[in-house]
Amino acid sequence: MEISQSLRRIPSSYIREILAAASDPSVISLAGGLPDEQTFPIDLMAPTLAKLTEMPRVFQYDSTAGYAPLIKHLTERFALPETHSVMISTGSQQGLDLIARAYIDPNDVVVMEAPSYLGAMQVFGLVQAKIETVPQCEFGPDLAALEACFKAHKPKMFYAVPDFHNPTGVCWSLETRKKVAELCIQYQVAFIEDAPYRELRFSGEALPLVSDFCPNDSIVLRSFSKIASPGLRLGAVSGKSSFIAPLIKVKQGADLHSSVPMQALLLGLLEHEDFPQHMERICSLYQARYSVMIEQLQTQLPNSCKAYPVDGGMFVWVEIPACDTFELAKSLLSNGVAVVPSPVFYPQPEQARAALRLNFTNATEAELTEAVTRLAQGLNQYI
Ligand SMILES: Cc1ncc(COP(=O)(O)O)c(C=O)c1O
Repeated sequence: MEISQSLRRIPSSYIREILAAASDPSVISLAGGLPDEQTFPIDLMAPTLAKLTEMPRVFQYDSTAGYAPLIKHLTERFALPETHSVMISTGSQQGLDLIARAYIDPNDVVVMEAPSYLGAMQVFGLVQAKIETVPQCEFGPDLAALEACFKAHKPKMFYAVPDFHNPTGVCWSLETRKKVAELCIQYQVAFIEDAPYRELRFSGEALPLVSDFCPNDSIVLRSFSKIASPGLRLGAVSGKSSFIAPLIKVKQGADLHSSVPMQALLLGLLEHEDFPQHMERICSLYQARYSVMIEQLQTQLPNSCKAYPVDGGMFVWVEIPACDTFELAKSLLSNGVAVVPSPVFYPQPEQARAALRLNFTNATEAELTEAVTRLAQGLNQYI
């Protein structure tokens, strides 16, 4: 059977190939985006897991929007006003997919930063959106380019990851957040705020969501993958109730609802008195790993390369001199370290500036040190 035209347009994922190669035990992988398994709060979930046996109701079909006690908890946690609501999705990735299917017709324009999250490029590609990009700078999107893009293309939405971006780790400044919100209101562009890394801040001050400055023109996607466990497959989508209702309709056709036992388990975790300490533990583990990685990068990388410091998240972005980054990644793999080359994160790969994405959350400090040594050796040979 022939696959659809929209699927034919989606290239096969290079990341999947590199992750498969990186499973070789002699390779240290900085290529994935995995949280460390030792951060999964299984001990904090144990009491609810035990209680599930006495909760037959959660094994029944339930409402598409989500398990009511969890919805109530999140409405309070996110301090949503009465005009807004939250729904549960099967990971924030499903939230993105629901938004694309509910709101995008072929050739509708979606704006993204370049580089951008690969999973969003896939989702918007599948609904045949026309993707326009604006360059990402140190403090977020290039604001002049963003306004010019809004004026020229009249986009339906602007999708972005303002907190500890995947792949660059960039965190938007307060001024950028306010200005982007202002532009979205002025040009009537919906702001899709993807925030899976927001809670993984290990230095600097927490900043408001961009959506706090444009609450009626935005949808926020949150994920429990990095702060609880990705295997739970749970995320939350919030916004004006009239923005959320169409998503619930699409979700009904997609999977009826997300797993209710898993939602009950997540609620037990979020309500556990030790949950705040759990968050502190994750952040300090990742901070220690990040510190080792950035220090090693700063001492070992050739001068022609630049590693950008971050205040949280899971990734460091390293700019390198212009070269064939795919060939470089292959050569690094044969030198025992897996990384992801920048073009895979660009809707127009030919526009990519040469760079590498490095993950620091799923390797030990000793492995990170060794990985940077292999990376620096490989780079010295290649560039
Ligand atoms: C920016 C971004 N959005 C969404 C997701 C998907 O997360 P989830 O596991 O909640 O589906 C990821 C996963 O890595 C991500 O990096």
